[in-house]
Amino acid sequence: MIAVIGSSNIDTVYEVDHFTEPGETQTALSLNYYYGGKGANQAVAAAKLSEQNVFFSTSIGNDSEGKKIEKRFNEFNIKGYYIHKNAHTGHAFIEVNRFGENKIVSNSGANGLHSKALVKKFLKEHGKDIDYCLIQNEIPRETIAFSLNILKQKAIKIIYDPAAKEKTKIKWLSGIEYLTPNVTEFNFLKNKLNIREDNLEKQALRFKKETGLNNLILKRGSDDIIIIANDNELSRIQTFDVKAVDTTGAGDIFNAAFAVSLNRGNNLQRACKYAASAAAVSVTKKGAQSSIPEEHEIKELLLR
Ligand code: RIB
Repeated sequence: MIAVIGSSNIDTVYEVDHFTEPGETQTALSLNYYYGGKGANQAVAAAKLSEQNVFFSTSIGNDSEGKKIEKRFNEFNIKGYYIHKNAHTGHAFIEVNRFGENKIVSNSGANGLHSKALVKKFLKEHGKDIDYCLIQNEIPRETIAFSLNILKQKAIKIIYDPAAKEKTKIKWLSGIEYLTPNVTEFNFLKNKLNIREDNLEKQALRFKKETGLNNLILKRGSDDIIIIANDNELSRIQTFDVKAVDTTGAGDIFNAAFAVSLNRGNNLQRACKYAASAAAVSVTKKGAQSSIPEEHEIKELLLR
């Protein structure tokens, strides 16, 4: 069974010609609202692709947006969320430019109240059924540290996306089964270890060895994914050439699809390929959760 620990947001998305410069005022090309939050994107994608229940430890507010999110979770059989009586649901404000790139500013709201106690209760109730747990960095740092620790103790395989990157502590990475940074996040983390090898593969290998994590999956947008596996073997997974309109949530959809594929019994490389296909389909659609692909779309792209 797949579980997720993380954030839930409503995304306010302005489509813009270019990212707004400091001091500039520009008129958006469109305004849309989507379901988002890195945790919720992963939970909904995992539920949709696996067609199974997903346990999701998250916090939402007791406001109209929280109610909409709750309805959505129920539609997808997502269980384990917590509603705070006196908090607003998390929000993200996103600009998407004409290349489909995004800039995100978020306001934690209820996500900032997602405490160690809530995770402890969640894992007490559901822990024994969980095989893979996806986690990211949009809840309080102490809750992430606590969650990683207890997941390791319970021998639940962790798929950790170190986004937003600043919250990640290097000491947490030892014993993580799968770490899935993008290049920006990887560069930030490797600099903390003063890793200065002259190419990315060597840097990735050294990073994997020094941190003590088990498998490193380096997501590089449309470039090949670099994998350093448990046995320190390097492999590359080719990604798919698609026209991106909005990359928001693609990393989350990658991680969810990766977990679904592993949970089906596929090996690391196969799971990465499936995840790359899911992420590629997602960037051809607008929004975060609105861009989660159908299973047949992933399969069609894999056959292309
Ligand atoms: O990863 C994309 C997500 O980051 C968006 O849905 C937004 O809510 C932010 O959390």
